[in-house]
This record gives sequence, structure tokens and C-alpha cells, in this order.
Amino acid sequence: MFKFRSSIFRFLVVAVVLLAIVHFYISVPVEDTYQSTWDWRLESHNDDACSLFSGLERVVITVKTGATESLKRIPTQLQTSLRCAPHVYVFSDMAQMIGETQVYDALDTIPTEVTEGNSDFDIYRKQQELGDPAKVPSVLRDFKDPRNPEALAAWTLDKYKSLHVVEKAWALQPDMDWYFHIDADTYVIWSSLISWIQRLDAQKESFIGSLSYIVGKPFAHGGSGLLLSNAATRNLVVTHNGTAASWDYKMHENCCGDWVLAQVLNDYGIKLMNSWPTLNGETPDTIPFASDHWCQPVVTLHHITPTEAERFGKFEQRRENKSAPVLYAEIFKDLLFDTIPDELADWDNMAKDEAVSNITSVEGCIEACANNSDCFQSLYTGDECSLGTKNFRFGEKHAPEGNKKWQSSWNRTRIAAWVSKQTPCNSVAFPFQE
Ligand SMILES: *[C@@H]1O[C@H](CO)[C@@H](O)[C@H](O)[C@H]1NC(C)=O
Ligand SMILES: *[C@@H]1O[C@H](CO)[C@@H](O)[C@H](O)[C@H]1NC(C)=O
Ligand SMILES: *[C@@H]1O[C@H](CO)[C@@H](O)[C@H](O)[C@H]1NC(C)=O
Ligand SMILES: *[C@@H]1O[C@H](CO)[C@@H](O)[C@H](O)[C@H]1NC(C)=O
Ligand SMILES: *[C@@H]1O[C@H](CO)[C@@H](O)[C@H](O)[C@H]1NC(C)=O
Repeated sequence: MFKFRSSIFRFLVVAVVLLAIVHFYISVPVEDTYQSTWDWRLESHNDDACSLFSGLERVVITVKTGATESLKRIPTQLQTSLRCAPHVYVFSDMAQMIGETQVYDALDTIPTEVTEGNSDFDIYRKQQELGDPAKVPSVLRDFKDPRNPEALAAWTLDKYKSLHVVEKAWALQPDMDWYFHIDADTYVIWSSLISWIQRLDAQKESFIGSLSYIVGKPFAHGGSGLLLSNAATRNLVVTHNGTAASWDYKMHENCCGDWVLAQVLNDYGIKLMNSWPTLNGETPDTIPFASDHWCQPVVTLHHITPTEAERFGKFEQRRENKSAPVLYAEIFKDLLFDTIPDELADWDNMAKDEAVSNITSVEGCIEACANNSDCFQSLYTGDECSLGTKNFRFGEKHAPEGNKKWQSSWNRTRIAAWVSKQTPCNSVAFPFQE
């Protein structure tokens, strides 16, 4: 019997590790180093533009990051997406100052019983030995590359933070209406969040996020943002005081912080309210556009690099009505459409709805798209021609692999015709609005 249980246990541990690796690849895109072109230190936090963005005085934002990425990501995030946020707390695996922002160590109460001899904490110890958070990104720079096993270590450590962040945010700013927990590569669209929060009731126990599954159990994907009401947070932090401390001992054999948070809330009687695609895990470039989402509001974007955060920040600044919620339709029409060319080499536009056989050239693939009146875009990889007929998207760079080369094309005329055919988005409906 014991043997049976232990082999099941071993299976579960292996499954959790594999899922962790998959989740990791989804969560951490490889990215070039980036130097901001904005001098965020000189800009004032509450500029006039923020007067349009009031109404979230009782909302706390927490950002979860790590010392290997914090300096690269946090400044731009604070200056773009979060520039008008009244209460932002940044939690990491090492305390530091970034400009005037205090970054807290989310792991500082975890007892040595848990950390000692636990390889999940190797990177934590290395960072502590280095002492200076500014040195961490250069000395441990390879931690961000998923091909490097040490990168997985940085990500593995991350799971220990989630419950502590919920508790620490309450301790720093107790009894607020909403706590919105995001990652350092999440972009919150402030005007959309304002409109949404106004339509929600903080006195209901609400746990709002983007639904995902691991080992058959639902959870809210952390990078898309986790919105917890006052009542839900109170239940976890006050009614069940000591939750994070008791889970410290159990995190090692669990996959992910966001997954554990969902199981804990479920144990306390709080069910996840799925708010995808308003809380969204894609970047503007990887969102598939189609009629189902077209008029839906967007509150978060994910995998947003500092370059993309600046691009999106500028898009927000040039909007005609800056306080209206941003809809998918607007992102496509006013941010993306002009950037989409007719053809692009070494690019994956993710067309995959229909495979066309016997195509031996890009030109043939483009012709196959032209011949199919539903086709918005095509992708030729040297051995396959795929058409995008159900939706369209820009996609992302994809360097050649051996003989395989990614060549994307779009039919802009057809996409434009589709766009102009959509009925205008008149009334905006948010998920779970009162
Ligand atoms: C949790 O319990 C501790 C110890 O009794 C107490 O000091 C702390 O204030 C409690 N925290 C909350 C949020 O109620
Ligand atoms: C701008 O958007 C806000 C929020 O949706 C709305 O109340 C307001 O009427 C809009 N202003 C204009 C000029 O359309
Ligand atoms: C593809 O080409 C092969 C060989 O030329 C031919 O036998 C086959 O019928 C073609 N298939 C289609 C779907 O045209
Ligand atoms: C496209 O349609 C034309 C005209 O019907 C036909 O000659 C051509 O073979 C088709 N091309 C492809 C790739 O399907
Ligand atoms: C794009 O679609 C239009 C309308 O169906 C068609 O006339 C045109 O040939 C297509 N363009 C390309 C480059 O395939």
C-alpha cells in the first residue's frame, strides 16, 4: 500500500515538475536587454494627465518580480501602465530601492526550516551573498534564459511569493476595496480598470482572473492579473490568519504560486470567476482578432516588454477619449493595423486554421490565401502552407531553424473589409458587472 502511494506521489511530483516547465516557457519569453529611452526618474508621478484617471483610490496594485528582472522591468512599468496608480507595492525576492520605490522581499518571513537544504532557494542565497541588488542582473543574468537550468530556479522560487504578497499587501494597506496582483510584465490598462471597478462590489467575496487548468484543477493565470475583493482578501488574510506561513512547508511539491492561491481560496469557499478575455495573457501582437472578442474591454496585457509598454503607453496617450475603456477593436484599429505589412520574413503570424497541400513556394501560399475568400493571412514554412481563416493576428519574430523559414503574409484589403463590416461597439459590458 505504501509503495503504491509513494509511486503515485512520485508520478505527481514528476507531473508537477513537467507542468512547471511548461508554465515557465509560457511565462518567461526570452528577451533582449533593454534600455529605456524615457528618463523615468525625472518624471513626476502625478502629472495632470492622471486627473482623468481618478476612482481607484481604494485599489492596491501589487507587482511580483524578482531581483534578476526588477531593474529592467519595474521602472518602465511604473512610468507607463501604473503611472496613475495611487497605491503600488512591488514584491521581489530581494529588498531594494528602485528610484523612490521601495521593493519588498516577499520571502523574508519564510523560516530556515523551509529554506535550508531546499534547492528552490539556491538563487535566493546567491542573491543574498551578492548583497547588492544592482549586481544581481549582471552576475546572474543567465537566469532569465529558459534554456539555462538556473532560469528555472528563478522561476521556481517565484511560487513561494504569491500567498505572502496577498498578506503583505493587506498589512501595508489594510482594508482597501480591491487588491490587484500582477507581474512585472503585466500591463494594466488604467481607463479600463476604472470602468470595471466601478461596476463591481468589493463587499462580495470575489476572486477574478483568467481561467487555466493544471492537473485538472482550475486556477487564475497570474500573468493576466488576479483581482481580489476586500471581502475575499479579508477571508484569506484575517479569517484564515497564518495561511502563507503554513503553505511555506508545502510549496516545494506544488507547481505554481497562482495555482496554490486558487486552491487555497477554493478551500475557503471562494470560487474563481473567469474574466478572460478582459484579463488577458497575450500581447497586442499575439491576440487573435475575431468577432467574438471584438467589442470586449481589455484590462490587462501580458508578456509586455519595456519596449512594448512604452508603445502601449503612447497609444493610450494619443487616444481621443482617454478615460473610455479600451476595447479589442480599438487595439487592432489604432495600434496594430498600420504596423502589419503585406509580407514579412522570419516572422510567425500563427496562421493555422487550414493547411493547404502541394504548395512549394511563398507565392503559392499567398495565392492559396487569395483563392480562399475567408483567408486573412498565410504562413509558409518551406514545407507547409497554413491559412488563417478564423481570425487574424500580427504574431512574432521567428528565426530560421535549419531549412525551415517562417514567412508570413496578410491580406490587408480583406482584413480592412472585415473590420469595416463590424457593427460599432456601442455598449461595453464587463465580466460580472453589477
Ligand atoms: C494574525 O495573527 C497574529 C498573531 O496573533 C497577529 O499579530 C496579527 O495581527 C494577525 N493578522 C491579521 C491580519 O489579523
Ligand atoms: C469618454 O469616456 C467616458 C467613459 O466611458 C464617458 O463617460 C464619456 O462620455 C466619454 N466622453 C466622450 C466625449 O465621448
Ligand atoms: C499533390 O501532388 C501529388 C503529386 O504531384 C498528387 O499526386 C496529388 O494528387 C496532389 N494532391 C492534391 C491535393 O492536389
Ligand atoms: C488559385 O485559383 C486559380 C484560378 O482558379 C488557379 O488556377 C490556381 O491554381 C489556384 N491556386 C492555388 C494555389 O490554389
Ligand atoms: C486580397 O483579397 C482581395 C479580396 O478578396 C483579393 O482581390 C486580392 O487579390 C487579395 N490580395 C492578395 C495579395 O492576395
